Amino acid sequence: MNKEHLLVKQVAALVDGEENLIANLANTAALLYNNLSDVSWSGFYCYHPQNQQLILGPFQGNPACTRIAAGKGVCGQAWQQEKTIVVPDVHQFAGHIACDAATNSEIVIPLKNTQTTWGVLDLDSTSFSRFSSLEQTFLEEIAEIIGSLNKTA
Ligand code: SME
Repeated sequence: MNKEHLLVKQVAALVDGEENLIANLANTAALLYNNLSDVSWSGFYCYHPQNQQLILGPFQGNPACTRIAAGKGVCGQAWQQEKTIVVPDVHQFAGHIACDAATNSEIVIPLKNTQTTWGVLDLDSTSFSRFSSLEQTFLEEIAEIIGSLNKTA
C-alpha cells in the first residue's frame, strides 16, 4: 500500500466510531501535519451562514487568521466555487491571505455533505509547488470522508 492510500485508510479508521466533529477534525489535522513532509500548516475552516464567513477550526501549525469572508482568499474562493484550488506560488494568487509570511504554496479542498459545502481543508507549505496532482487526488478522498461527517450543516 502506498503512503497516500495508507493515509486515507488512517483517516477512515481515526473517525470510525467517533461522532464528534471537532474531535475528528482535530485528529485529521494532526495526522496530515505529522505524516506529510514539508507541510507547515494543516487545518480546517468551517462556514458560518449567520455571518457568511469561514471561521478557523482545528489545525496544526502557527496561529492563523480566524475569519475569512466567503469568496476571499484561497479558502473563501475554494469554498464559494466548491472546487479544489492548488496554488503553486501564493505570491502570484490574487487575493491570497497571508497568515504566515513563510508560506509559498497551498492547497484548499472543499468539504461537502449531501446538503452543502460546509468548510474547507487547507494545507500550506514553505516550498513552492508542494502539492502535486497525486496529492490533490488523495487529499480529495480524505476531504470526502471528512465532508460526510458533518450531519448538522
Ligand atoms: N492562505 C489562506 C488563509 C488561511 S491560512 O493559509 C492558514 C487563504 O488565502 O485563504
